Amino acid sequence: MSVPAEPKAELEALKNLNRAQARLVQAVQELSLVRTVPAIQEVVRRAAREIAGADGATFVLRDGDRCHYADEDAISPLWKGQRFPMSACISGWAMLNARPAVIPDIYVDPRIPVDAYRPTFVKSLVMVPIRLAAPVGAIGVYWARPYAASAEEVALIQALANTTSVAMENVQVYTELEKRVAARTQQLENLNRELESFSYSVSHDLRAPLRAVNGFAELLTREVEPVASEKARRHLATIIEEARRMNELIDDLLRLARVARQEVRRIDVDLAEMAREISDRLRREQPGRNVEIVIPDTLRATCDAGLMKVVMENLLSNAWKYTSRTAQARIELGSRLEADGSVAYFVQDNGTGFQAQYADKLFTPFQRMHSAAEFPGTGVGLATVQRILHRHGGRIWATAEVGRGATFTFTCAGSDAARS
Ligand SMILES: Nc1ncnc2c1ncn2[C@@H]1O[C@H](COP(=O)(O)OP(=O)(O)OP(=O)(O)O)[C@@H](O)[C@H]1O
Ligand SMILES: [Mg+2]
Repeated sequence: MSVPAEPKAELEALKNLNRAQARLVQAVQELSLVRTVPAIQEVVRRAAREIAGADGATFVLRDGDRCHYADEDAISPLWKGQRFPMSACISGWAMLNARPAVIPDIYVDPRIPVDAYRPTFVKSLVMVPIRLAAPVGAIGVYWARPYAASAEEVALIQALANTTSVAMENVQVYTELEKRVAARTQQLENLNRELESFSYSVSHDLRAPLRAVNGFAELLTREVEPVASEKARRHLATIIEEARRMNELIDDLLRLARVARQEVRRIDVDLAEMAREISDRLRREQPGRNVEIVIPDTLRATCDAGLMKVVMENLLSNAWKYTSRTAQARIELGSRLEADGSVAYFVQDNGTGFQAQYADKLFTPFQRMHSAAEFPGTGVGLATVQRILHRHGGRIWATAEVGRGATFTFTCAGSDAARS
């Protein structure tokens, strides 16, 4: 069956339009993913040429009162990198008039500076503005023959330009946001550094007067020993004891500040071996205690060995300390795979536990869930642990139940680092 000539041409035109629409949809999807202006140009110059079925396309940006031919995709060079006054080029006309220019023959249209076109292949073109309200640029498509683009074809190129303007606005928003985040981060880092050096020097400077308080209290004790009442002696002993506690606090604070400054040097570390050394020491220090400590043969982690030792020391001595009133104490070190593929390590005990709702507070310096009379300590250990893990790009969290024990779980790398 033969198709008459005219319907055949119509069919062909319809097919072309379909193809162009599909190409436009693809470009819209691509544009939704790009984050930079050069990436937009890359998508648009190719899409414009293909949608129009043209021999070339240009991506023009408004640069004050000039048109900057920023990018192009064509059978032979056009004007890439050049700038022309808005009043002297057709992209300027499209931007100033905020509407498309359709030029089937460049040699008969007075808007075309013919001299600029003579060295090129261009015989006809369509130029559409990017953004109709206050255009920021233009997209041009060019043919090497006289060609009158249909209204539908122009509409498709204009639709591409409209999407391009949305993508460009998005890029502006992203860039602005990124700038703000970077500025905020810098501010925070500066503030943190200031605070750290402040707390470091304050702690450091407190030591000398404290030593004096301690020394003189001891001298006084010795001097008044023969004559002092029982009550006066008790007061002096309290002064000395409190000075000792304060000294411990200062030591802990200095350690915390040091951790924040120290560089993280990652190596392959066996946490199991570390844990065995620490638990041997704990057993030696309190040989009377009978604690089951479960440690795997090996437990590899890529982390700073010195800093991770501090983490393990704190978590295991906590487990040891907070099981001291538990009849059959059990402590376990282990690991498991998180949903995101990173490795999480845990130290679990069946000791006194704490109320789960306070789990986040424990990582703040001096926050304690138990009184010093019940369980001694200054409350800086977990703050130090958290800071070390943050320095590694990891994190720590706790779960617990009163009377049934606590589990501290941590990662020592962001999930990407853990996977690689
Ligand atoms: N394994 C655990 N079981 C129950 N409570 C715990 C456990 N580990 C920590 N805690 C609670 O968290 C608080 C903070 O712990 P952290 O290690 O920071 O301080 P600390 O052990 O009291 O003192 P130190 O600074 O000497 O370590 C503890 O006071 C305790 O109340
Ligand atoms: Mg502790």
